[in-house]
Amino acid sequence: MESLSRVQLALFLFLLCPANIISLWWAVGSPLVMDPNSICRKTKRLAGKQAQLCQTEPEIVSEVAKGARLGVRECQFQFRNRRWNCTIHNKYFRKILQQDIRETAFVYAITSAGVTHTVTQACSMGELLQCGCDRSRNHSPPLPGVGTRMEGTAWEWGGCGDDVDFGYEKSKQFMDARRKKGKSDIRTLVDLHNNEAGRLAVKNYMRTECKCHGLSGSCTLRTCWKKMPNLREVGTRLLDRFNGAFKVMGGNNGKSLIPVGQNIKPPDKHDLVYSANSPDFCLPNRKTGSPGTRGRTCNSTALDVSGCDLLCCGRGYREQTVVVEENCLCRFHWCCVVQCKKCTIRSQLSLCL
Ligand SMILES: *[C@@H]1O[C@H](CO)[C@@H](O)[C@H](O)[C@H]1NC(C)=O
Ligand SMILES: *[C@@H]1O[C@H](CO)[C@@H](O)[C@H](O)[C@H]1NC(C)=O
Repeated sequence: MESLSRVQLALFLFLLCPANIISLWWAVGSPLVMDPNSICRKTKRLAGKQAQLCQTEPEIVSEVAKGARLGVRECQFQFRNRRWNCTIHNKYFRKILQQDIRETAFVYAITSAGVTHTVTQACSMGELLQCGCDRSRNHSPPLPGVGTRMEGTAWEWGGCGDDVDFGYEKSKQFMDARRKKGKSDIRTLVDLHNNEAGRLAVKNYMRTECKCHGLSGSCTLRTCWKKMPNLREVGTRLLDRFNGAFKVMGGNNGKSLIPVGQNIKPPDKHDLVYSANSPDFCLPNRKTGSPGTRGRTCNSTALDVSGCDLLCCGRGYREQTVVVEENCLCRFHWCCVVQCKKCTIRSQLSLCL
């Protein structure tokens, strides 16, 4: 295995470990008082930038881990109705990370995006000593977009802008660690490209937000700042890129990726790329990393990927009645109790055979 994916594998293994730093982080509530050793122990064997980050900026490493976890969670949301649903708590996920298929591209991009986002957010919230708000005055002026009524109003950059460049750099340092020396192979190029696409899905989609100042809403002055898109938006955008991902192969110089097929425009830096075809994810297969779709919940009326036909790969499905207990017929009693009855609700689930 190449060291690039070893770094990320270490990170994912770490995410899988129940007694990890993240739970400690939640328990203690501050990244500044947690013990960085457990994540850093896993990456210790890896020379280079992570090891350095681990030693000098452990609190950033804990944000990195949190960001990767949020990225995986977003992946699970975006893929919830698909054959491959981004479940990491099984033996198949490791295999996915070692390939160069579209799904791998998405995982790499969304985790790099999650790290960029989370580190940047931590800066804005004042949780890190190394960074804070973006107070740069060097941005170009906000566009007088529809509804913003910027025309004729004085404005200045102010407030607490998101310092996305900081999060971008930390994500790059941690996620892009290459083998120190050695020729770059196509998988490294593909992984680096997708990591960058993920970071750019945050960095290049900053919004301008403004606030009015002046007597009774007169808005004689506005202060404006840059805000990141939320992670859901980033995930949705990357899912679009997943759907339009480019198949590539290595160029002759060993440094470039060229699209496979004729008359295809080359991928730009926002696109996801892959070099191997995905399995169909219908049946369990350790070799391809497919957990199969048996037992998955499908939608018997939908015609898209969540529909039983596609999700169950034509094997059919069975209906199962599930009984859920819910509060109902609630009444308000003066003062101040709400009393409810318990009702049982039956609903039908369709499960793939
Ligand atoms: C995702 O798929 C796995 C098996 O492939 C299944 O066990 C799990 O329940 C699924 N998760 C969701 C949220 O549907
Ligand atoms: C199933 O699919 C139908 C048609 O696309 C949709 O209206 C419905 O909300 C879906 N049900 C669930 C539980 O997602």
